[in-house]
Amino acid sequence: MVFDPSVKLNSGNSIPVLGLGVYLTPKDVADSIVQKALDLGYRHVDTATYYKNEQDVADAIGAWLKKNPTVKREEIFYTTKVFDTDHGYEATKKLIATSLEKAKAIDYIDLFLVHSPQSDYEKRHGTWLALQEAVESGKVKNIGVSNYGIKHLKELLAYPDLKIKPAVNQIELHPWLSREELVKYLKDEGIAVEAYSPLARGQRINDPALEEFAKKYGKTNAQILIAWSLAKGFIPLPKTVTVSRLRTNLESLNFKLSDEDIKKLDSLDEYGVTGWDPTVYPLDNEKIGGK
Ligand SMILES: NC(=O)c1ccc[n+]([C@@H]2O[C@H](COP(=O)([O-])OP(=O)(O)OC[C@H]3O[C@@H](n4cnc5c(N)ncnc54)[C@H](OP(=O)(O)O)[C@@H]3O)[C@@H](O)[C@H]2O)c1
Repeated sequence: MVFDPSVKLNSGNSIPVLGLGVYLTPKDVADSIVQKALDLGYRHVDTATYYKNEQDVADAIGAWLKKNPTVKREEIFYTTKVFDTDHGYEATKKLIATSLEKAKAIDYIDLFLVHSPQSDYEKRHGTWLALQEAVESGKVKNIGVSNYGIKHLKELLAYPDLKIKPAVNQIELHPWLSREELVKYLKDEGIAVEAYSPLARGQRINDPALEEFAKKYGKTNAQILIAWSLAKGFIPLPKTVTVSRLRTNLESLNFKLSDEDIKKLDSLDEYGVTGWDPTVYPLDNEKIGGK
């Protein structure tokens, strides 16, 4: 079995370095794919209220833990996120309660993220205060953000009532989108970098640029992408509903790319966003007419 090692977050808690993404994983597939992933050695699953499968994922982890009593709850890392439409103090408090109810089978949530900065100062601020309180309650262990650009992070770090710094920023990252400036800022601030869509959503999995490396290392193109992410110090969250890919994606932990090859892959960068990019979402004072 491949071992999914952990690294420390600025909260003092640990996070396994590779997670299973479950965006677009159907509810009725979540149970079997999450349990299979845990069988194989995954110890980290990334969901969101937006994905509509929180309960299925949490129940799957809970059921698996019952079948595998030698593994402790603390060895598994479960992430969820508050979506833009639930920003604001009251709305987020309610949302956290609902997400905790859905995660009853696993008792607590390891990481709660603000899914994106797409609201306004007051709402983002209120959301962060509600998340800070959730940590104080003990039912949420770490909090962080997703899709935050440097300006959104600077805004958050300047909240007068900031008690907890984000533990992570989860952003789209792969060789075609390496976001060097944002990544450097996060590293300097001690905020861990999670890489979503580390396989560029599969859109460029057969890109000839990957073939050279796949041949050289005797690995799959997907493994080259995941190994690049790990080498950059990111926490990649590859998604799959295909059991054979679950295994090979995890096995990316078993080899390392050379520094020279990492640099060659870095050179593919072309701002290749595959989905949305809220890191560029304007702050209130940047919007036309201040709206
Ligand atoms: N915070 C955010 O805004 C945000 C946005 C997007 C994603 N995420 C998170 O990050 C996770 C991963 O991102 P993602 O789902 O967008 O994309 P991804 O992981 O880059 O790619 C997933 C796609 O690649 C395919 N795939 C997986 N393993 C493969 C392999 N070994 N060979 C070839 N194809 C493979 C999958 O197909 P099959 O499933 O059919 O195998 C699926 O179509 C999400 O599930 C979610 O948890 C967060």
